Amino acid sequence: MNLNTLGLAHFFIEQHVSPGDLCIDATAGKGRDTALLCRLVGGRGKVIAFDIQEDAMRQTAELLAREGLSERAELHLESHENMAQYAENDTISCIVFNFGRLPGGDPQVFTRADSSVEAVRQGLELLKPGGVMSLSIYYGGPNGYDERDALLAFLRTVDDRRYSVLLSEWANRPGEPPLSAFIWKDA
Ligand SMILES: C[S@@+](CC[C@H](N)C(=O)[O-])C[C@H]1O[C@@H](n2cnc3c(N)ncnc32)[C@H](O)[C@@H]1O
Repeated sequence: MNLNTLGLAHFFIEQHVSPGDLCIDATAGKGRDTALLCRLVGGRGKVIAFDIQEDAMRQTAELLAREGLSERAELHLESHENMAQYAENDTISCIVFNFGRLPGGDPQVFTRADSSVEAVRQGLELLKPGGVMSLSIYYGGPNGYDERDALLAFLRTVDDRRYSVLLSEWANRPGEPPLSAFIWKDA
């Protein structure tokens, strides 16, 4: 496992996604999470991926094509706050969020508190029993702290009779290292 936030998320995802699963990448970006999910779900599975930037959709589509994974993904130029329109409740094995901005993309476009919290709220219902969610929370700089604070406040309210929520932080890393959150829906 790579000892960084992406490595931690991928390690978690690899433990929980199986061939034939239906998964969601809520922030496709350069497509690295979408590609990982596509590899894990195999030829019988499906990955639904969202991003609001055309450039991100293009980069994701190109990565999937290079890796021969295009058939396993549905790409939607759409805000993740509308993800409930694309899947039924209790059907999704894994939902991945990688909050922040597209590296090298438009610096004005980044995930925002209101839409992020709404997307996580919908995602919790879409998860099947035993399903999981991985959230990598980048914050600070021009993005500020609103989104991080709103997400953390929301996560602390999630019904503990239906979900387990784990927060983790890099305690001795300088600057503003990203936070990770992992959610399990009760089986
Ligand atoms: C940190 S990047 C994601 C990186 C990506 N997971 C990867 O593997 O390369 C965050 C992405 O979220 C996208 N984004 C911002 N607001 C969004 C929204 N409301 N719905 C979906 N995607 C959004 C940005 O365009 C950006 O591409």
